[in-house]
Amino acid sequence: MPRVTRFQLTVHLAALTPLALLIVAWQTDSLTVNPIQEATFRTGKAALVLLVASLACTPANTVFGFRPAIKARRALGLYAFLYALLHFGIFIGLDYGFDLRLVALELAEKRYVLVGLATLSILLPLAVTSTKGWQRRLGKGWKKLHRWVYLAGGLAIVHYTWVQKADIRQPLLWGAILGLLLLLRTPAVRRRAASWRGTVGRPRSR
Ligand code: HEM
Repeated sequence: MPRVTRFQLTVHLAALTPLALLIVAWQTDSLTVNPIQEATFRTGKAALVLLVASLACTPANTVFGFRPAIKARRALGLYAFLYALLHFGIFIGLDYGFDLRLVALELAEKRYVLVGLATLSILLPLAVTSTKGWQRRLGKGWKKLHRWVYLAGGLAIVHYTWVQKADIRQPLLWGAILGLLLLLRTPAVRRRAASWRGTVGRPRSR
């Protein structure tokens, strides 16, 4: 059995905390006066934060030399998908009682619902193909496919912005973080970081 490091364990616990808090709040009737909306907000936010966290893993390794991050990337992505699925489930099941006609109307009327669905539709194949087996089967195509995660991140930000309507400071902040993570992936930044780490890591000559 593969050994789980302390860092991986922390990541799992942190990712499961919003779900545990949601269950406790639901069970104790302390989810505000509009529990369904609050649960929708909480699961949506958790999905976004974990998606961005999974995108931060590669630069954490390539730019800052934090290798354990790579081992947490898949789990974070899968947790993001899990919360997005829960978010969608609450919307379709608790909010709309599985009335697909009503949901279709919402899709046609509310652009943020359409963009949310597009985000989820991208996350689904990424989650399914995240295993080692699929990585082997898809070969070079796997990396190409998984680059779509940035599009999913961008669409999640658009969704968040359209949900918020008036105060869009939070979506803008998350959009800026996503932009920064994209920037950190560029070869120029990676080269500079590698040479900087080489200088800092090298023992000084006497
Ligand atoms: C079919 C898919 C989706 C549907 C139908 C959906 C629907 C919703 C709804 C109804 C709200 C609350 C709007 C309100 O009450 O004003 C919401 C909020 C939100 N959703 Fe989604 N969503 C979907 C997918 C996603 C995905 C994939 C993500 C992220 C990866 C996401 C992130 C968020 C965020 C961050 C919020 C706002 C949370 C807050 O204000 O704290 N959603 N979504």
